[in-house]
Amino acid sequence: MKESFLEYFLRESLACPICRGSLEIRKATRRNSVIQRAILSCVSCSTLFKVYARIPVLLKPGQYACWNHPHVEAVFGFTLESYEELLRKYGVEEVRRRAFRILRGEYSPPKVFFKEPVDRRLLAIGGWRIRKCYVERHLRRIKEQTKSSTSLRRMVDIAREYSPCKILDMCSGGGFFLTCLIEKYRDFTEFYSFDIDYKCAKRVEGTLTYYKLLDRSLPMVADARAMPFKENYFDIITNNCGFNQILGYTKAVKEAYRVLKPGGKLIVREFYGITTWDSGLTRRNLGFTVDELVELYRHYDIYVNKESFIKILEKTGFTIELVEDIDDKYYLLVCTK
Ligand SMILES: C[S@@+](CC[C@H](N)C(=O)[O-])C[C@H]1O[C@@H](n2cnc3c(N)ncnc32)[C@H](O)[C@@H]1O
Ligand SMILES: [Zn+2]
Repeated sequence: MKESFLEYFLRESLACPICRGSLEIRKATRRNSVIQRAILSCVSCSTLFKVYARIPVLLKPGQYACWNHPHVEAVFGFTLESYEELLRKYGVEEVRRRAFRILRGEYSPPKVFFKEPVDRRLLAIGGWRIRKCYVERHLRRIKEQTKSSTSLRRMVDIAREYSPCKILDMCSGGGFFLTCLIEKYRDFTEFYSFDIDYKCAKRVEGTLTYYKLLDRSLPMVADARAMPFKENYFDIITNNCGFNQILGYTKAVKEAYRVLKPGGKLIVREFYGITTWDSGLTRRNLGFTVDELVELYRHYDIYVNKESFIKILEKTGFTIELVEDIDDKYYLLVCTK
C-alpha cells in the first residue's frame, strides 16, 4: 500500500508533544492513500492522540481544540464565553477583583479537563469549512482584506528570500498569511501549519486542497507551547500576529527556537502592543487601565509590546536580524537561531 503523507511526516518530523517520543499509527481508516481517522500512539510515554477527519490533533490530554483569548483564560480558565459576555455576567468590579487576586497569588481559575479535544460540534463546523464554495468565499475575503497590506506583503517577500524547503506556519488562524505566501511561493518540499483551534486547521485544509498542495503539506491542531516536532527541523517558522494571542507565550518562543534548524529564521509580524493603547478606552471597554493590563499580562506571560518581546527572543537565544516598523499598527521581525 502507498504510504500516506501523514506516515511520511510521522517518520520525518512529528514527535509526541509531551515527551518528544516517536508516534506510530494504530487503527487507521483510509480513503485512497489518505488517512481519514486514526489513533496515534507515543512509543515512549504511550499517550494516545487522534486524527479527526484527516487533521492530526496533537494536544496534551484534557485540552479542547478551541481558542480562548489569553486574558479570558488567565482570569476564568477555559470557557466558551467571550470577554464581553463575562463582563456582562459578572460585572466589571468582580472581573477586576478576580484578576488582582490572581496577581497576588490568592486564586487560580479552575482547570477543565475535556475527554475529547474535538467533539461533534467542532467536527460539523470543520466539515463545512472545507466545502469548495466556503473555501472560495474565504479566499475572496482574504484577497480583499490583504490587498492593501504593505506589512503582510513584506512578510511574504522576506519569507521567499530564504527559498525555504521546510516551512512551519505557527498559529495559522484563518490562513491569511499562509494564503498570501502560497500565492507567491510553492518551491517548498514540506509545509506544516498548526493552530490550537480545530476550525482554523480545517479552514487551512480547505485552502491547501484548493491549491492542490496537500501532497506536501500538513495542517494540524497543536499547541505552540508544546510543539509536536523533532528539534532542529525547520528552515523557517512564520507567525503572523499569533504570539499576542498565546497565554504563556514565552514557552512558544522557546519551542520555536527548539524546532528551528541552527541558522533557521523566525519571521514574525506583530502588533506594537498594549502600551500603545488609550488607557481611558481600555478602562471603559475592558475594565482595566493600560498600566494595570501591563502588570497583569506580565504576570500571566501574555505579550505586552515589541520591546519586551525582543528581550524574550534574545534571552531565548535568537539573534535579531531585522526589526522593521511598517505602519502605525504592525512591525516585522526576523530572528536567527
Ligand atoms: C490572529 S490569529 C493568527 C492569524 C493567522 N496567522 C493568519 O495569518 O491568518 C492568532 C491565532 O493564534 C492561535 N493560537 C492562540 N494560542 C495558541 C496556541 N497556544 N497554540 C497554537 N495556536 C494558538 C489562535 O487560535 C488564533 O487562530
Ligand atoms: Zn510521549
